[in-house]
Amino acid sequence: MKNLVILISGRGSNMVAIAEACAAEGWDARISAVISNRSDASGLDRARAWGIATAVVNHRDFDGREAFDAALAQVIDSFSPDLIVLAGFMRILTPGFVQHYAGRMFNIHPSLLPAFPGLHTHRRAIEAGCKLAGTTVHVVTPELDHGPIVAQAVVPVRPDDTEDTLSARVLAMEHQLYPRAVRWWVDGLLEAGVDGRIVLRTGESQLLIEGDGRPPG
Ligand code: GRF
Repeated sequence: MKNLVILISGRGSNMVAIAEACAAEGWDARISAVISNRSDASGLDRARAWGIATAVVNHRDFDGREAFDAALAQVIDSFSPDLIVLAGFMRILTPGFVQHYAGRMFNIHPSLLPAFPGLHTHRRAIEAGCKLAGTTVHVVTPELDHGPIVAQAVVPVRPDDTEDTLSARVLAMEHQLYPRAVRWWVDGLLEAGVDGRIVLRTGESQLLIEGDGRPPG
């Protein structure tokens, strides 16, 4: 049985989607802990409602990133994780922390990487006139919002989309995509190809398309 540790900073809707899929699909995995850098993250209550252990490591209690990351890693490691799942965890991680979990830490980022790393992805996609937006699950590497792509979901940008309407549709796709990607990992179906790209050893697609690919409207 694989131990998953999920890191959040806010509402934790992706964490809930993973917990639901893990239970409903009977994964050979358990969520050992949900850890937040903010004690007011509403996702902590949602985790407790699932009977999942929670912990808070407040970045404000530490003098600098290195000290925070060292304390965070200590708490994470106390749960003996196999995979670290970043789900709306809003901290920039130090290279040492990323190295400690090399190859076993996933993140979800609300854009079609490598486009739009960083913040305000939906606003930037609309302002750029993009006709497609989406979300990416990737392996975490030291460079922010980079790293081998595990899966992506695409959402058409409608002419009347606002940041809010677009982000709501992308989030709905995240709730399908992230559990799927974590399940592949749990089932040992992901492997790194010779060129570093992530290869999936099933007939499932690493690409999800909103509305099964039908034109928007
Ligand atoms: C998601 O949009 C995710 O892509 C980004 O932060 C958001 C987290 O939402 N990294 P939630 O806390 O899972 O509801």
